[in-house]
Amino acid sequence: MDEYKNLLVEAKDGVAVVTLNRPEKLNALNRATFEELAAVQEALSEDAAVRAVVITGAGEKAFAAGADIAEIAACDAAGGKATALFGQGVFARWERFPKPVVAAVNGFALGGGCELAMACHIRLASENAQFGQPEIDLGLTPGYGGTQRLARLVGRGAALELLLTGDRITAARARELGLVNAVFPREKLLEAALALASRLAAKAPLAAAYCIEAVGLGSEMPLEEACYLEATLFGLCCASEDMREGTRAFLEKRKPLFCGR
Ligand code: COA
Repeated sequence: MDEYKNLLVEAKDGVAVVTLNRPEKLNALNRATFEELAAVQEALSEDAAVRAVVITGAGEKAFAAGADIAEIAACDAAGGKATALFGQGVFARWERFPKPVVAAVNGFALGGGCELAMACHIRLASENAQFGQPEIDLGLTPGYGGTQRLARLVGRGAALELLLTGDRITAARARELGLVNAVFPREKLLEAALALASRLAAKAPLAAAYCIEAVGLGSEMPLEEACYLEATLFGLCCASEDMREGTRAFLEKRKPLFCGR
């Protein structure tokens, strides 16, 4: 794996773990971290040995406490827009990443941290995690897709409550709202995320990529067109070796072994 300054990246048994690593700044997402998140994304997407990714934060307190406020404070209108568009692009590519991405939210997931978690495909949280979009208290709106992904995940009412109050919510409340999939004791979170990612890594890679594509693209389309997209992806699966293997393994009463073709 390449060396990164603000990330730790390890890959083992088909699962890569990307750890945001600026714990002294609660893993706040500065420009350099975003650039590394883009670079690691490219490296992991090309690495056929990696079939699932876990994203988490270093230290005891934070997944990520947001965009780096010191950098944002220096933005003018054009710079702010460019910063938002750059970050949105990086998060959108994580959302479209063709292998399952699990966020292991181990503490504060605020602002850009919450937005990064929302761009992941599945979110697991520790009991001490806290979620929120506190940008309003900085005189800002979220800029990395937060207004859009939050409303899509939890509905407009809860999204506007979080956006307009800037309040932080507990992992339990985030679970109730559908913002996280499951909550674990702090010391069990990474283990649970790795176990889930390992399970996902053993599934048929093409079918996984197509599920991500169908949900990601399809949720923005009229139902009929989205179902047509689904049918096309289903058809592509039917041409894969993995579909032959999966159906044959079922009929032979054994576990399938998928190759990603
Ligand atoms: N950007 C830049 N630095 C940040 C940061 C951010 N988003 N969040 C935390 N930090 C830095 C703090 O400035 C501090 O640095 P310092 O030790 O050099 O002074 C360090 O991280 C630790 O944070 P601190 O505020 O002392 O920790 P805390 O436990 O008292 O409070 C939070 C934790 C998360 C409640 C608080 O840090 C916070 O509100 N952060 C900003 C959250 C936010 O508004 N995010 C949206 C940004 S657009």
